[in-house]
Amino acid sequence: MDWKAYYNEHKMTAEQAVQHIKSGDRVVIGHACGEPSFVIDAMVANAAAYQNVEIVHMVAMGKCEYCQPQYASNFRHNAIFVGGNSREAVNSGRGDFTTCFFHEVPGLFETTLKPDVAMVMVTPPDENGMCSLGVSVDYTYGAVKNAKTVIAQINPCMPWTGERSLVSVEELDCIVEHEAPVIELAPPKIGDVERAIGENVASLVQDGDCLQLGIGAIPDAVLLFLKEKHDLGIHSEMFSDGVVELVEAGVITNKKKNFHPGKFVANFLMGTKRLYDFVDHNPDVMIAPVDYVNDPRVVCQNDNLVSINSAVQVDLMGQVCSESIGPKQISGVGGQVDFVRGAAMSKGGRSILAFPSTAAKGKVSKIVAQLDEGAAITTSRNDVHYIVTEYGVADLKGQTLRERARRLIAIAHPDFRESLAAEFEKRFAEKLEV
Ligand code: COA
Repeated sequence: MDWKAYYNEHKMTAEQAVQHIKSGDRVVIGHACGEPSFVIDAMVANAAAYQNVEIVHMVAMGKCEYCQPQYASNFRHNAIFVGGNSREAVNSGRGDFTTCFFHEVPGLFETTLKPDVAMVMVTPPDENGMCSLGVSVDYTYGAVKNAKTVIAQINPCMPWTGERSLVSVEELDCIVEHEAPVIELAPPKIGDVERAIGENVASLVQDGDCLQLGIGAIPDAVLLFLKEKHDLGIHSEMFSDGVVELVEAGVITNKKKNFHPGKFVANFLMGTKRLYDFVDHNPDVMIAPVDYVNDPRVVCQNDNLVSINSAVQVDLMGQVCSESIGPKQISGVGGQVDFVRGAAMSKGGRSILAFPSTAAKGKVSKIVAQLDEGAAITTSRNDVHYIVTEYGVADLKGQTLRERARRLIAIAHPDFRESLAAEFEKRFAEKLEV
């Protein structure tokens, strides 16, 4: 059968497609801005037909309605990353959290997290019957390869993001045509603190470096301060609109990349239509599965790889929590450690964890004597390299515990330096002037 006949035979409504989900199934949903909202809505509308359907998802950018209390017997959320819409379900016990490095997620789909159903969003097929996973190739590609049933929303608004993003029409069991704008992530608001952090991080970036940028206001603020740099490259878990601006300013050229030269390499994208238009059919953009892009053994093949991510708390030894407040899970490891380790193994590489010195409107310091009880250690003290706040840069690599504490206290908020210095004195039998 040629692919066009296959396509027509498997075309159906969203209501018909979600009838392929059975009670007790494990359903993996396409990631972040690539989630297929139209078929998810149809699944939630059909909730009464299901008992105990496990929903596996990472960054959920949509409504996440399956997490709501009224659906507790129909759906159970198993989050690999907890976001704003799933925090309450996971932390109240109605959902679960599976911890693992992002690059390992597709591997779990072959072992402990084998999906029954994958629900994904793709472009319409090209002349060869191939569809692009667009803004979400990451683990979504692995979900398509390993699910018994694939339900796909065919959306002409999805950008086409290169050879490594393609699946064939014959891999899709239920084809649902529905055009709708791809979910957008508005650029974050950048205030004075973020600007100061951006400036400090930018001081660690050199011409020709290859960047990985995490999610949020901090990486975006960093981009603002890179306008004077030259020939930067991108090998990142994701990127957003800030990168487009630097391309237009002639700063990001990918020319100096020794690995995939000339290419923007990432595994997912989150931004506005401006970003999605930039990547669509762009021959320089390579969006590829996360088990390739984020594998530290792949990351480190880029010389001068600089990873820039954020954190919740760091203790005086340099142990970093980036995903929980005490035992309360607020996000996940994501690709942080994939890139911290990849950067450490890259020739000339550097990893940077940057965050404001305080949280909760200045009431708590993010640099602390001890991590909160129950906090997850995301990046270990042996992996950490640079910590940056609005007060400066602490290079922790190869430093004694005493020197690490000294350097971290120097970039803590002034309101907390005295209490941290008292802890220093207790621990190291030395008075610290602050
Ligand atoms: N104590 C108490 N509360 C804290 C805190 C601390 N030390 N640090 C943060 N918080 C609170 C904030 O006040 C905020 O609360 P709110 O939602 O009620 O306003 C919440 O936690 C989120 O913190 P915020 O700093 O706004 O988050 P962010 O959007 O800048 O993200 C991380 C920061 C660390 C959560 C995020 O970068 C992350 O998830 N990192 C891990 C994964 C990763 O690095 N991936 C990289 C590749 S993309």
